[in-house]
Formats: sequence, C-alpha cells, structure tokens
Amino acid sequence: MKVLVTGGAGFIGANFIHWVLKNRDWDIINLDKLTYAGNLESLKSLEDNSRYEFVQGDICDPKLVNDLMSKVDYVVHFAAESHVDRSVLEPGVFIQTNVVGTQVMLQAALENKIKRFHHVSTDEVYGALGLDGGKKFDENTPYDPHSPYSASKASSDHLVRAYGDTFDLEYTITNCSNNYGPYQFPEKMIPLFVANAREDKPLPIYGDGEYIRDYLYVDDHCEAIALVLEKGKSQETYCVGGDSERSINQMAETILKSLEKPESLMTFVKDRPGHDRRYAIDHSKITKELGWKPRVTFDEGIEKTIKWNLDNADWIQNILSGEYQKYYEKQYGERL
Ligand code: NAD
Ligand code: DAU
Repeated sequence: MKVLVTGGAGFIGANFIHWVLKNRDWDIINLDKLTYAGNLESLKSLEDNSRYEFVQGDICDPKLVNDLMSKVDYVVHFAAESHVDRSVLEPGVFIQTNVVGTQVMLQAALENKIKRFHHVSTDEVYGALGLDGGKKFDENTPYDPHSPYSASKASSDHLVRAYGDTFDLEYTITNCSNNYGPYQFPEKMIPLFVANAREDKPLPIYGDGEYIRDYLYVDDHCEAIALVLEKGKSQETYCVGGDSERSINQMAETILKSLEKPESLMTFVKDRPGHDRRYAIDHSKITKELGWKPRVTFDEGIEKTIKWNLDNADWIQNILSGEYQKYYEKQYGERL
C-alpha cells in the first residue's frame, strides 16, 4: 500500500509516519511545505529508510499534488495551519492552506482515482460545551466553529463531504481532540508550559484557566487514523478522543509538580478571543465499529511527554531561537 501523507513534518504527521513505518508495511511519500511548523529534525532517523520519501512542496500547487497522487493509492491529509492563536493574528493563511489547499487535494484525489482520501480534522469544528453537565461531541453534533482556525477546518470538512456527495469520492474523516506527545511545536500549551517552567519563566494562563480540553496521546490518534483508513466505512466520519478532560489550571499544576517548580509561576493573562469553554468527545462509534480505544492513560502519556520535552532540549531550543521569538513577543509581549 502506498500512501501520500501531507504535513508529515509537523507534530502529528511526524508521529504518524514513525508509527506507520513501525506498525504497518506501507510505503510513504511525505509532502510538506516546511512552514514554521514543519521540522525535518523530527524525521531524521528515517532519512535512509527505503519505504519513506520526502518532497518539499505546497498542497496548494495542483501540478505537484497531481504528480504525487499518480504514484499512490491512499492519502492521509494532515497539512494545515493548526494554531488557534495564530489564526487570530493572521486568519488569511488559514483559509489559503486549510480551505483552498484541501480543495486542491480533493480535486487531484478525484482525478487520480485515489482509493481512500482520509481527512484529519478536529473537535473544534463543533464549537463549545458548557462546564456543567456531561455533554460530549459526537458525529451528529452540528458544526459551530468560533475561531478562524476552526472555521477553516469546518470548511475543509464540508468540502470533503461535498466531493463525496457530488463526485463519489471515497473519503473518511476523523475529528479528534487535543493531541500531546513528542515533536509538538512549543507554541502549543503543553510544550510551552514545560519550556517556560524549565527556565522558571511564567506560564501564561488564559482568562480564569477553567477551559477544558480532552487530551489524547498522539500514538493513539495515529492508530485510530490507520484503522479508519484500513477498515472505516467510506464517506463516514469518526470522532476520536482520549477520555481525559483537564482544565488549563490542572495541566499547569501537573507540569509544575512534575518539574518541582512553584505554582507561583502560573500567571493569569488576557483571554484568547472566542475561547471555547470545553471540548469532550464521545468516541463510541469508532470503538464499536473498529475496536479502537485510547491505550495510553493520561498519567502515563503526560509523564512521557514532559520527559521527551526535557530530554530533547536541542530540538526545542532550535525552534525557540529564530523566527519563533517574533511570534512569542507579538502573542505574549503585552500579556506577561
Ligand atoms: P502542525 O502545525 O504541527 O503541522 C502542520 C504541518 O503542515 C507542518 O509540517 C507544515 O509545514 C505543514 N504545512 C502547512 N501548510 C502547508 C502547505 N500549504 N503545504 C504543505 N504542507 C503544509 O499541525 P498538527 O498539530 O500536527 O496537526 C495536523 C493536523 O491535525 C491538522 O490538520 C490539524 O487541524 C489536525 N488536528 C490537530 C490536533 C492537535 O491537537 N494538534 C487535534 C485534532 C486535529
Ligand atoms: O481540540 C483539537 C485542537 O487542539 C486542534 O485542532 C488544534 O490544532 C490544536 O492546536 C489544539 O487547539 P487548542 O487551542 O485547544 O490548543 P492550545 O495548546 O493552543 O491550547 C490549549 C488550551 O490552553 C486552550 O484552552 C488555550 C490554553 N492556553 C494556550 C496557550 C498556547 C493558555 O492558557 N495559554 C497559552 O499560552
């Protein structure tokens, strides 16, 4: 089986490629533009692997995308602008990559008779749940995105379904909750908090810190995607989640405790605009149909993740110097 993976130099894509090369016999072509979020260091150990090929390029380039799709049977589409805070600062690129780029990918998938186009999406398309009550998102929850990021991902999901309904494209979609694990860019909350705590810098907590996310260890997400690609029903959506709801405050406390740092580093700053209160996922469909459930417990996963971030200070440091500093100043300069 030959698979085109887009965005494979990013956080989940890189973990997916490592996971597939270890757990399946598939060959992979990785198409990645190498934006600020793409990092070939994450894939360095695969440079000599004959089952893996890297191509630098843009999913918005129809000629390149068509050429690559003529060489594969399956597509797993991760490539996207993925950070909510950046979508507040600069929404345009989210529309270009996440909406226009996905349409270019879909058109090429159709023209090249791709056997299955798997689209990797997010629980953020469903909007926000209240703190009270045990409501969760599932495959039938109406879309209600609140940030330019989630609106762009919602648009891409609609485009995928439209290509299925209009042109009979064979697709599947997964809508997953917050991933954590190795190779996550340190603009995201967990690696950012670990990096700051390590250096005794303040942890910027948005608003009152009582915003809840459901956390899933990234390997479990990779397995869910592989199973849906192999055995999921065509033209269906699967919700994927970790059964691990935590608030920002709880996450900060866990990280500080693990690093033996004081809670006084928790610093409450101006809130993220349009901040969704709570996400939670009912994953009973994928569990019932495909036998998937999260394997890694939160306690296990967060310790592994904190350790990876501490052991890979070079990987983090290369990012923290350079371009990222400009973003950090813009995002946190007046808040901290
Ligand atoms: P990421 O930002 O770490 O990586 C994105 C990758 O896409 C980078 O390597 C980047 O270089 C590449 N890319 C961006 N624009 C491109 C373009 N025009 N052409 C080719 N490559 C391009 O993102 P991530 O956190 O790994 O998320 C991957 C996917 O999973 C995204 O679609 C995201 O919406 C979805 N998702 C993420 C999470 C999460 O918790 N991180 C949860 C659910 C779904
Ligand atoms: O739910 C899935 C989504 O999870 C994915 O679709 C996104 O690509 C991914 O980035 C992630 O989005 P979040 O906005 O939930 O993740 P982030 O790590 O940015 O923030 C997690 C929570 O922490 C959120 O409530 C905002 C808060 N936060 C974040 C940062 C960066 C802070 O309090 N301070 C911060 O500095």
